[in-house]
Amino acid sequence: MQTGIKLISTGAYLPEKIVTNEDLSRIVDTSDEWITKRTGIRTRHHCVSETHLDLAAAAARQALERAGIDKAQLGACVVTTVAGDKVTPSCACMLQAALDLPELTPCFDLNAACAGFPYALRVVQGLLTDERPYGLVVSAEVLSRLLDFTDRSTCVLFGDGAGAAVVARQEGAEDIHAVLGSRGNDQVLCIDGAWADHTAHVHMEGQPVFKFAVNIIPSCIEDILRAAGRTLEEVDLVVMHQANERILDHVVSRMGLPPEKVYKNIAHIGNISSACIPVALNELYEAGRLTPGLRMLCVGFGGGLTWGGCLIEMGGKEA
Ligand code: UT7
Repeated sequence: MQTGIKLISTGAYLPEKIVTNEDLSRIVDTSDEWITKRTGIRTRHHCVSETHLDLAAAAARQALERAGIDKAQLGACVVTTVAGDKVTPSCACMLQAALDLPELTPCFDLNAACAGFPYALRVVQGLLTDERPYGLVVSAEVLSRLLDFTDRSTCVLFGDGAGAAVVARQEGAEDIHAVLGSRGNDQVLCIDGAWADHTAHVHMEGQPVFKFAVNIIPSCIEDILRAAGRTLEEVDLVVMHQANERILDHVVSRMGLPPEKVYKNIAHIGNISSACIPVALNELYEAGRLTPGLRMLCVGFGGGLTWGGCLIEMGGKEA
């Protein structure tokens, strides 16, 4: 079995501007009551002057500082995003310069939509070596740039932000048993490319995506546990993509999950695509809840339709 990885530190950055449901009700036909009841979202952050790279760099710096590692030992820097500042170079390449990473660090972006973070953990696990045992995963999204603020069914849902994680290939670390999938659907959730003959906006048919989510999350969790030879009782925390609080509650009741094991922060961040999971992990880290040995299930799902999940343990700083 391949050497696995552990999480050793996290970081995050959320733009300064907070947009409330009331703020949105002044520009589109919606209400705080509808948004709160149907999604659980109360506020989200939107960039004003911050770039995508600013968000990614701030989250990455915090995670690297907390990890206290030698950057020369980084075996990979992967940024997950649906859209960075530029089509090319990748955000990860620009991070290489911003963070002064050694030139021989593989730096690239990965787009698996909202499932990006577990996808990146799996890819990074495969890139690390004994000589370069640390990996940096940064998930950064500026969705406010891609919203149609006349479409109330999407513009109230999404926000901006970045989360980062440093992982380590450590002796005794278990394979993360990632389960990754996709379904070739460009109808129910998509954003056109920069070359489209119209401004590219998030297009989503909410109900089919909702149904997809409440079915795929339990099956993804079951597949991971089967692969890992573990039970739900052996999992300490479940951190899911935060698309809708009703999706999280559905999974809790369908799987009989103890609600206290399921982390929710959608109320104050909204849906920040691939950044949801690492931003949540960072809140847990800052609350002192990520104690060494803690076993976490991370599950993402979204455009594509993609899904991905894995089981990862909190480690110490030393590889
Ligand atoms: O991150 C990627 C993954 N994304 C997801 O997992 C999202 C999954 N889907 C959802 O979370 C939900 O489907 C939404 C939150 C997007 C929508 O909630 P819903 O309960 O499925 O609402 P709906 O689309 O069925 O719309 C119900 C009504 C409609 O009005 P009528 O036709 O019944 O008169 C909508 O026009 O709610 C209306 N509506 C709104 N009303 C006030 C839709 N958006 C709004 C709004 N404010 N913002």
